[in-house]
Amino acid sequence: MKAIVLDHLSKTYPGGKAALREVSIALDPGEIFGFLGPNGAGKTTTVKLLTGMLTPTGGGCTVLGRDPARQPEAVHALAGVVTEHAQMYDTLTGLENLTFFGALFGLDAKASKSRAQALLEELDLTHAAGQKLGAYSTGMRQRLSLARALMHRPQVLFLDEPTSGLDPQSAQAVHTLLRRLAREEGTTCFLCTHQLRYAQEICTCYGLMDQGRLFAQGTLDQLRAQVGGGGTLLLQAGGPPLPFPQTGPGRYEIPIAGEEDIPALVRQAVAAGGEITRVLPQAPTLEDLYFHLIGQREEALP
Ligand SMILES: Nc1ncnc2c1ncn2[C@@H]1O[C@H](COP(=O)(O)OP(=O)(O)OP(=O)(O)O)[C@@H](O)[C@H]1O
Ligand SMILES: [Mg+2]
Repeated sequence: MKAIVLDHLSKTYPGGKAALREVSIALDPGEIFGFLGPNGAGKTTTVKLLTGMLTPTGGGCTVLGRDPARQPEAVHALAGVVTEHAQMYDTLTGLENLTFFGALFGLDAKASKSRAQALLEELDLTHAAGQKLGAYSTGMRQRLSLARALMHRPQVLFLDEPTSGLDPQSAQAVHTLLRRLAREEGTTCFLCTHQLRYAQEICTCYGLMDQGRLFAQGTLDQLRAQVGGGGTLLLQAGGPPLPFPQTGPGRYEIPIAGEEDIPALVRQAVAAGGEITRVLPQAPTLEDLYFHLIGQREEALP
């Protein structure tokens, strides 16, 4: 069974704003899906539809075969949600917040406490377990919110900007955890993010949104194929300056259409007196692809 299915999913808000237009996506268990797009693209709206907080105005969606609009409780029993505004209690400690939500999900006190302690440890919050949430920093709060969403071992995780306020080390801890969950427990992650470098590190596939439409989707290789190769040639050479875009002394980064461009560039460098010490082709990054595809789309719009 597919973990998450969106079938021509559409949402027009009561005021008339068409936030989501006929979006179709199907994700297998264990995928880490990066849902990307500029502000207002419709990412949060999609998460709200998938978690039953909104109902679609067209099409439909399922989470592990359940319709979130009709069976929100069933979806919440199987899914964890991390949003920008986590509902937790400032007057309770980190550990108390987690065991409170553990009880809501039907865990007994002992199981709840040991699960909470393991998650606090994995998210590097053990030192703050006894501290009231009101005294947590933004990043600590975000990590606790993820721990809360994981208390009942959900099979699907919805994450709306889960690492936006995290320092690099904490973001790394979150990514390690998500990858472990996907690999060991087959947890599916639906991850909305603007952090393209992090997304490239952890996601197995992507969807690119703009103005409510999904305009590209696939793995990194599939997106690269869609753009038609491309990338950059890193060239390092001594001797006189070469007629290429320079990024440092003797360092050049030349946009290329594909590997077939490399021999001519090398000949050109040698003919100009360059003493080549390094030639390194680099495939386009997710960030390169994002800008390329968004640019293509904007050109195509009327
Ligand atoms: N409750 C609402 N009523 C009316 N319009 C809304 C509502 N919530 C969101 N919108 C509009 O729907 C569109 C999509 O918003 P959404 O929050 O889904 O975008 P997003 O991709 O999550 O953006 P961001 O990257 O800023 O989080 C925007 O134009 C927004 O103004
Ligand atoms: Mg959003």
